Amino acid sequence: MRDRTPGLAIETSGLVKTFGENRAVDGLDLAVPAGTVYGVLGPNGAGKTTAVKMLATLLRPDGGEARVFGHDVLREPDAVRSRVSLTGQYASVDEEMTGMENLVLLGRLLGHRKAAARDRAMRLLEAFGLTEAAGRQVKNYSGGMRRRLDIAASILNTPDLLFLDEPTTGLDPRSRNQVWDIVRIVVAHGTTVLLTTQYLDEADRLAGRIAVIDHGRVIAEGTPGELKASVGSGSVHVRLRDAAQRPEAERVLTGELKTQIHLEADPVALTARIPGEDADAGAERASRALAALASSGIVVDDFSLGQPSLDEVFLALTDRALTDKKMEETAA
Ligand SMILES: Nc1ncnc2c1ncn2[C@@H]1O[C@H](COP(=O)(O)OP(=O)(O)OP(=O)(O)O)[C@@H](O)[C@H]1O
Ligand SMILES: [Mg+2]
Repeated sequence: MRDRTPGLAIETSGLVKTFGENRAVDGLDLAVPAGTVYGVLGPNGAGKTTAVKMLATLLRPDGGEARVFGHDVLREPDAVRSRVSLTGQYASVDEEMTGMENLVLLGRLLGHRKAAARDRAMRLLEAFGLTEAAGRQVKNYSGGMRRRLDIAASILNTPDLLFLDEPTTGLDPRSRNQVWDIVRIVVAHGTTVLLTTQYLDEADRLAGRIAVIDHGRVIAEGTPGELKASVGSGSVHVRLRDAAQRPEAERVLTGELKTQIHLEADPVALTARIPGEDADAGAERASRALAALASSGIVVDDFSLGQPSLDEVFLALTDRALTDKKMEETAA
């Protein structure tokens, strides 16, 4: 692995973890700038939690290298542990204890005196909107309250690097927003956040850069804008008045946009990604396409041009991986 790069909170090179035959993490290369939110995006089983556990020194890599603030996770695990904190798909708090008791206990374990631990616990509970619930047993918390308490517990000691493993999975929109606000506060105080998520809009909102992973490897990396641009300058969404006109509309759009047209499950809807990176050229092509539809006598109820969503980016990137996998399964 090359020399450690200054300014990186995490650097991995060819990181591997296998479970029997399964290469859960299969040559992962990551470079996470310090002081930012870095998104690791991937579907179920992509290897996100496995990668996080290796970086947090909870799991031993089978190959490759990983450094956290320049410290090798295998050779200097104590130095790594002193700078990181982990929350997410792990139990860190005791269900039988109250929120307050949990935070005070953790504070005591971290070496704070009783008064200081209580004071810090109270301030965190207040900052995370948990003052009223402070005296309630955690097993009676809602999912959103529980998640906020988990994050509060993991920043008791203001870590340099915080791993948030799917912090909002299963939360309602309001609770997700609260967690997002907390992430913004944490990073504003100088903590680097590695956020894993299955939600593309979450990575889009919070992360400065994103690595898309699938089958334990990075399949794309960049800013949210770069990832979107990599699949074209925009996408066109068309809704027709009459489903019978869809084959003709598909033909006209294919001719104008010179790209593959996607037929939605909704029989009157079509979408197409516009190739190329220039948004203005994309918009011009889209308006020519609309004119061509009109002059062919096709009635359009709705026509819109949008930036590709990260969902579309993700589907475009993982399509091939999925096709390969299906072929493997068919062959097996
Ligand atoms: N302790 C383990 N023993 C055996 N296989 C495991 C173990 N942990 C994970 N795996 C397997 O490794 C692969 C990656 O799992 P991992 O939990 O890292 O995925 P993930 O991206 O975190 O998924 P999710 O979004 O569902 O949390 C999966 O195929 C999983 O079944
Ligand atoms: Mg996981």
